[in-house]
Amino acid sequence: MRVDVFTLFPEVFPPYMDSSILKRAQEAGLLDLGLHNIRDYATDKHHVTDDEPYGGGGGMVMKAEPIFGAVETVLGAPPQIPVILLSPQGRVFDQRVASDLSRLPHFALLCGRYEGVDERVREHLVTDEISIGDYVLTGGELAAMVVIDAAVRLLPGALGAENGAANDSHASGLLEGPHYTRPPEFRGWTVPEVLKSGDHAKIACWRRQQALKRTAERRPDLLDNQDLSEEDRRLLDSD
Ligand code: ADE
Repeated sequence: MRVDVFTLFPEVFPPYMDSSILKRAQEAGLLDLGLHNIRDYATDKHHVTDDEPYGGGGGMVMKAEPIFGAVETVLGAPPQIPVILLSPQGRVFDQRVASDLSRLPHFALLCGRYEGVDERVREHLVTDEISIGDYVLTGGELAAMVVIDAAVRLLPGALGAENGAANDSHASGLLEGPHYTRPPEFRGWTVPEVLKSGDHAKIACWRRQQALKRTAERRPDLLDNQDLSEEDRRLLDSD
């Protein structure tokens, strides 16, 4: 997967993108990340990328020319791939959107800053707009990293053969149940016996029950979209 990121702050990406699983994904050729500084495409002497809003009011607006210049120079005019603006006004990102993006061979992320971007960017360059939640960040950079992280870890091979993403919280529409590792007793707190039993059918059943109960307790809204079996309902109602 190739992802081209357009930002005024490319330097914030490597510390995160070049660590852990995302680093491995890049080394394995699963992720090819292009970072482009929009400022490099401003044609005036001072490389200005923002300006005051028409009509007055506070804040600054990102100018259209450097953004079009950056995206069209790198991707062609018009770009033949999805160009996604990160902004609090976009559709809300979730596991389904991450999964859809993970199937794309190539997409671009445009990080907004200041009060926003000139509306002509939205109208004539951007093909999709994503928000990572109903709160306002100082810019789209963190959101872009969230989107890349969530999409890349779904690529086959990104998490290693043993640790697929299939059981993740949200992948099945349910939250995951609890996890434990050694030691079997810590400060007197023990690990549930069933997990040490070696009985894989029983463990799978316990995990399903824990996932159902945790989802019912913390995110009952998620259960509304689930087709629960008779067995699921029995698990939910029993201790
Ligand atoms: N930029 C500022 N706030 C944002 C948000 N919630 N999601 C995506 N991009 C943003």
